[in-house]
Amino acid sequence: MTHFHYKENQLFCEETPVREIAEEFGTPLYIYSRQQLIENFRSIDGAFAGVDHTTCYALKANSNPELLKLLVKEGAGADAVSAGEIHHALKAGFHPSKITFAGVGKQDSEIEYALKHDIFSFNVESAEELAVINDIAGRAGTKARIALRINPDIDAATHPYISTGLKTNKFGIDIEVAIETFKYAASLPNLQVDGIHTHIGSQILKLDPFVQTARKVVDLVGKLRAIGIGIRHIDFGGGYGVTYKNAIKHPLLPLEHETGSEATPGNEAFISSVLPILRQADCKIVIEPGRAIVGNTGILITKVLYRKDNGVKKFVIVDAGMNDLMRPSLYQAHHQVAPLVLNEKGTEHVDIVGPVCETGDFFARERTMPFMERGDYAAIFTAGAYGFSLSSHYNARPKAAEVLVNGEKVRVIREREKLEDLK
Ligand code: LLP
Repeated sequence: MTHFHYKENQLFCEETPVREIAEEFGTPLYIYSRQQLIENFRSIDGAFAGVDHTTCYALKANSNPELLKLLVKEGAGADAVSAGEIHHALKAGFHPSKITFAGVGKQDSEIEYALKHDIFSFNVESAEELAVINDIAGRAGTKARIALRINPDIDAATHPYISTGLKTNKFGIDIEVAIETFKYAASLPNLQVDGIHTHIGSQILKLDPFVQTARKVVDLVGKLRAIGIGIRHIDFGGGYGVTYKNAIKHPLLPLEHETGSEATPGNEAFISSVLPILRQADCKIVIEPGRAIVGNTGILITKVLYRKDNGVKKFVIVDAGMNDLMRPSLYQAHHQVAPLVLNEKGTEHVDIVGPVCETGDFFARERTMPFMERGDYAAIFTAGAYGFSLSSHYNARPKAAEVLVNGEKVRVIREREKLEDLK
């Protein structure tokens, strides 16, 4: 059950009609459900009950400060990929002892910043980076706690741009040289080797790649312990996929065609498939979900500006663009689009496109949609993850506003940018 639902023919977020929110705050507009965020977090974190663990939310999915604060209250940690994200996390109240820092290209100044704040762990991605962190920690008169990010060479069966656990990807340290790299790390005086990190990709819908990775990781922990390298934590990354097609159903909404492998097994299933394996290592477990926490927490509301029929194609032109939600343009990602108020005007075959000067600026192509015309509002679903965080000012378009719904209450959590805000 999600907290976006139709009551009769009108879309609600929790107890609030979305159309009223759109009319009050304007479009394009990101709307988040507080309850959905909390439930998603709890469904993941709760699956670890009784296990020493931290759920480090991946800020890159959505770093709105108000959403972060809610997650802090729930006991979350943070997974950051830049000094900027560490800064956001600290400002929102995440405890430094619950912050991890990943990324293949950490700058010296970012390493200094993370050391100064004594974060939980650097997730190190190359031998050269180990040497640099060791030097910087030495100069600062401190020791850096590190985990090595291992690339297990496992196919996560996801979009090639967001697959990270294959030999051909830039991420992590090849599992074949893992032991020798751990030995090197252990020989460096200003590092404290603490963990193993993996993150094999994003929007993964199969359990098997996770299970295979868990087995490889646990095997590696055993081998390292046998040579005296104590591993205290496993950071198993994120990547749990969410359902994009048929995110919402209604008799007046066309059912979206699914190939059969597009539904998520669900957060509990992802975790219960690997937890018994990971527990064999007797380590603290860290995970870094992003999308599974915020994906279905948010929708993007847009308004129809124009219709156009060139005899070959029908276009519905809306006021949100690829600068607001880039996923369809970047990954040909599917997001369900549905009118806020459903009517009996039937369906048609259309492209839903934005105002940006790129042919790739679309939200849906050749899609069967309920009839929509100028002034109608539509919701683009499952936009909470990698929506606003990937947005840009392209075409000098001010960024959208963000609001948070809590029952019948609606609160602006990021003001809409004005023309004067454009630099
Ligand atoms: N940990 C690390 C080290 C990561 O690189 C990522 C995501 C995560 C955790 C969180 O992954 P999640 O649980 O959200 O799948 N922009 C793309 C997704 C890029 C993911 C990058 N790394 C998209 O819109 O699909």
